[in-house]
Amino acid sequence: MDFGLKGKVALVTGGSRGVGCAIAQALLDEGADVMITARDPQRLAATRDRLTCCGTAEVHAVAADLEDDDAVRAMVQATIEQFGHFDILVNAAGSVNPADFASLTEAAWPALFEQKLNGYVRCLRHAIPHLKTRGWGRIINLAGVGGREAGAITIPVGLNNAAVLNLTKSIALLMAPYNVLVNAVVPHIIDTDRQDETMRLLAELTGKPEATIREERLKKLPLGRMGRAEEVASVVAFLASERASFVVGAAWHVDGGAYHGI
Ligand SMILES: NC(=O)c1ccc[n+]([C@@H]2O[C@H](COP(=O)([O-])OP(=O)(O)OC[C@H]3O[C@@H](n4cnc5c(N)ncnc54)[C@H](OP(=O)(O)O)[C@@H]3O)[C@@H](O)[C@H]2O)c1
Repeated sequence: MDFGLKGKVALVTGGSRGVGCAIAQALLDEGADVMITARDPQRLAATRDRLTCCGTAEVHAVAADLEDDDAVRAMVQATIEQFGHFDILVNAAGSVNPADFASLTEAAWPALFEQKLNGYVRCLRHAIPHLKTRGWGRIINLAGVGGREAGAITIPVGLNNAAVLNLTKSIALLMAPYNVLVNAVVPHIIDTDRQDETMRLLAELTGKPEATIREERLKKLPLGRMGRAEEVASVVAFLASERASFVVGAAWHVDGGAYHGI
């Protein structure tokens, strides 16, 4: 199936590792040009050099901290300067740590949303005026099953991801008249460095050994294994493609059956 992505340009946040990096590779494999972005410039450059380009597709990198609004504006501008335009925004940067509710003081509370939601909002604010002018576009927001399933020690994860899901639907309605299709992808327990860090933090918070946490989390997965970043990336590439031309405001689970809701 031809995804119709040749000649399209994608900006992928969080593209230096994990799911974002796999998404960058999937889009390059389909012939799209890709700009990857993250904070650490060394890791970003190493990833850019490792990604393989198919045909005439190109990959470039620009470092930006999504907590800094000026840096996000500059990142969007750098993408337009590099490629002349862009058509696809993938929001995949940032992951939220589990936390004990009692430890979330008045001062700590607003910072929770800097771990994920606020960066997505900044990228949308700066990308949308450009995407509106193109007549064809895609936005894919990486959410997480935590946004649909509450957990006593995953409150920050739940709130950020629930907000991303709600935001996705609203922006989908806003952008559909411009033929910019906006959707969310909802992964769960994907084998990335971040997942290892989550397991470690959950062990710390619950006082259980990390091996027990890992076992409990894997039991939740009917497939009996963690997901691979590439498995999330294929769904993102489909949603970014011409083939998904009537999919608007959806939330596609890539969770190995972990979410039991309808
Ligand atoms: N892995 C899972 O099991 C899982 C499950 C559910 C949902 N998700 C979602 O899927 C997405 C990707 O997850 P992942 O596991 O691949 O995460 P990851 O391995 O932690 O990668 C995060 C990426 O975002 C970048 N980043 C983080 N904070 C940033 C900031 N403030 N500004 C700019 N870049 C930033 C990181 O690079 P730098 O550190 O260099 O900035 C890195 O490239 C996230 O939205 C996550 O919530 C993942």
